[in-house]
Amino acid sequence: MDRIRIVGGPQLTGVIPISGAKNAALPLMIASLLTDATLTLENLPRLADVNQLLRILGNQGVDYRIDGKRPGDSPTAGQTVHLDARRIVDTTAPYELVSRMRASFWVIAPLLARMGEAKVSLPGGCAIGTRPVDLLLMALERLGASIEIEAGYVIARAPQGLRGNEIDFPKVTVGGTHTALMAATLAKGHTLIRNAAREPEIVDLADCLIKMGAKIKGAGTSEIEVEGVSRLGGARHAVLPDRIETGTYAMCVAMTGGDVMLQGARADLLQSALDAISASGAQIISNDEGIRVVRKSGGIVPVDVTTEPYPGFPTDLQAQFMGLMTMAGGESRIRETIFENRFMHVQELARFGAKIRLDNDMAIVTGVRTLKGAPVMATDLRASASLVVAALAAEGETIVNRVYHLDRGFEHLEQKLAACGAIVERQSLGG
Ligand code: EPZ
Repeated sequence: MDRIRIVGGPQLTGVIPISGAKNAALPLMIASLLTDATLTLENLPRLADVNQLLRILGNQGVDYRIDGKRPGDSPTAGQTVHLDARRIVDTTAPYELVSRMRASFWVIAPLLARMGEAKVSLPGGCAIGTRPVDLLLMALERLGASIEIEAGYVIARAPQGLRGNEIDFPKVTVGGTHTALMAATLAKGHTLIRNAAREPEIVDLADCLIKMGAKIKGAGTSEIEVEGVSRLGGARHAVLPDRIETGTYAMCVAMTGGDVMLQGARADLLQSALDAISASGAQIISNDEGIRVVRKSGGIVPVDVTTEPYPGFPTDLQAQFMGLMTMAGGESRIRETIFENRFMHVQELARFGAKIRLDNDMAIVTGVRTLKGAPVMATDLRASASLVVAALAAEGETIVNRVYHLDRGFEHLEQKLAACGAIVERQSLGG
């Protein structure tokens, strides 16, 4: 099992290339099941979750081919993957494969839409709350599927095909919207999705589906309309830049001070987070190359944030922002409204000497002058990133254990930070 050693202190200066977004890559890969033609995805990040999903799709019968290195490619260039679901040989996604990653549950939608049936294990994923799938199943039922739950599996059937309908989500759900969107593309007739998630990753999926021949209007707004088609074709699509990776490194720079260009990042994908970082005292300059984050002098200003569905402050940056606030010059309040148990990083941040009090869905952070490096444990993907934010500014050495959480969502994290002057290395312990 690997761990990461960080010695805090150095300011970050240089360039960090931003990878393709994990949370766009996963639904895009799953969309390959909707067509018997080849879907080529560019700028796919090299992540454990991507590899795991390739395994799951392979089990369904999808052939995939990953392009090798091309002249002039940088080591951090994204991968190009060709996915070919000409013959789906298995409509079951078994527990052993699905339990490790929640997003893999979403294969239920294209399997059902194209094959008329799907049997998918109830999902696992990060321990950040109960994370039910009732709304995903409601969406499929609205499109005419029958749903049974048996021995930990969801069995969805629509032998005559799905039928367009209105789907009204009582709560904004990213996975629910991805599911509804994919299923509706091949349903007969018109579907209206109300209270749809507006996340950029939804727009990226819709853009790709449109290239494949789907008829979709309104992605990126809370009402999406889909006119079903009988078949989708192949397409070539580049995954959008990762807004959570962008925000995480921006918070690292705001924490240590310095001057870093986040190459390829797009400010429009995370404006609310950039506003919070800039209110904390860093300068954010956005141009054609990416987003430059500068903090030269002055302390970290406390800023209150509340997580909300897009375009609000993202829950996937809540932990990292808390990391930043641990050294602010005063008290900040961080409210988590999306997941009920997304404060696992609080006890780990306390190991650095951070002062954080929990009051229901609110963390009250009282900034301290110094943090001290410590052995800490990554509990989930984004929580792990908050430990990196703290470690980069803490005095002395930090060892982040259970790095596999970070590997699920951050490509080449140590190399990217080390290239900007951080003292960071991966230690492989074997076994
Ligand atoms: C996506 O998860 C992301 N995952 C999460 O990122 C992200 O935190 C989340 O959206 C919110 O932005 C991927 O894109 C792969 P939801 P998802 O359905 O789709 C409740 C990361 O670190 N809900 O929008 O699973 C749910 O419990 C991950 O990269 C129901 O009640 O999230 C939550 O409170 C972690 N019933 C809220 O809705 C349902 O059927 C939003 O969840 C579905 C969801």
